[in-house]
Amino acid sequence: MKNDVNRQFRLKSRPSGRIKTSDFDLVREPLPEPGPGEALVRVVYLSLDPTNRIWMSDMDQYMPPVELGEVMRGGGIGVVVKSNSPRYKAGDHVSGLTGWQDYCIADEGARAMSVLPQGLPVPLTAMLGACGMTGLTAYFGLLELGKPKPGETVVVSAAAGAVGSVVGQIAKIKGCRAVGIAGGPEKCRFITEELGFDAAIDYKRPDWKERLAEATPNGIDVNFENVGGEIMEAVMARMNLFSRMPLCGMISGYNTDQPMRADYSPILMRRITVRGFIVVDFMEKFAEGAMQLAQWVAEGKIRHRETIVDGLEAAPTAVNKLFDGENIGKLIVKVADPASL
Ligand SMILES: NC(=O)c1ccc[n+]([C@@H]2O[C@H](COP(=O)([O-])OP(=O)(O)OC[C@H]3O[C@@H](n4cnc5c(N)ncnc54)[C@H](OP(=O)(O)O)[C@@H]3O)[C@@H](O)[C@H]2O)c1
Repeated sequence: MKNDVNRQFRLKSRPSGRIKTSDFDLVREPLPEPGPGEALVRVVYLSLDPTNRIWMSDMDQYMPPVELGEVMRGGGIGVVVKSNSPRYKAGDHVSGLTGWQDYCIADEGARAMSVLPQGLPVPLTAMLGACGMTGLTAYFGLLELGKPKPGETVVVSAAAGAVGSVVGQIAKIKGCRAVGIAGGPEKCRFITEELGFDAAIDYKRPDWKERLAEATPNGIDVNFENVGGEIMEAVMARMNLFSRMPLCGMISGYNTDQPMRADYSPILMRRITVRGFIVVDFMEKFAEGAMQLAQWVAEGKIRHRETIVDGLEAAPTAVNKLFDGENIGKLIVKVADPASL
């Protein structure tokens, strides 16, 4: 084995505000030995997600927070290097909760990982983004909760990111008008020129609310909410009677302890259906969603981009790109070169 040390980021302190490298201990452990029914997995790609910030905190959340001293929780893709389980064989690509480390143990129970099919028609990294958890978040949040109909207007915030970029493209596939809200001209060009959104609103421009009004002349039927705060409030103010708002995320509040405030009166006046969700709520339908997404990606109906950062050691600083808007598409850390394994 080329590397007999397992580097791990263990949570040392709960971040206050932005995540700092000093919130983690980088420890070096001997490689874990897989027991009966277990496999040793070399982590190849690590998914960086806004929810990492939530897991680091002890706020009320949908999973237990990461304990101090525990390996930082994170999704990823790896290659099985050694197996004592019939579920995994050496060389298999697997995805699941790898953690922020070089190696992890997969088992057949609580630490089970999904074995990816051989000969995927999409790059491995797409299995973390457009065809993975973020794509599934877009797919189920928009279709099951947003229920978009042809001709309706769908607005999505953080539109050039992993989830938002897929939401707008599915809206187009379903015959809707897709309007994305994103920070800066490069992201706005990306979603209109490369992804086919009908309009992009740069919320960093002072006149962005007027531009949102111009881009949504018939009001808004579905607001796929990723950001919260001022952006959510401005979009809600333009939502139609009996419109729908899948509440996917509120990233503008993750680095602060302050409660998020907004004018919620449109929910009453326009009878908006607001539904918070976590992608795992749709776990039973994941296979169906992943197959549809992979088909759309393979057919070129969904385009995807990744921002890939090199090296496990970069994870604690790279995760801040999500909060600084420095990623386009899915943010990934390349932990090891899959070709070298
Ligand atoms: N419910 C679920 O199961 C689930 C699953 C996955 C993700 N999510 C949520 O979906 C949202 C997007 O996640 P993602 O993984 O796709 O990340 P992402 O969109 O790829 O990256 C985050 C983006 O959010 C924008 N952003 C950050 N801070 C902001 C602020 N204060 N105001 C406005 N925009 C801000 C930035 O884009 P700009 O440059 O455009 O500002 C940044 O690039 C997050 O809220 C996340 O928590 C929910």
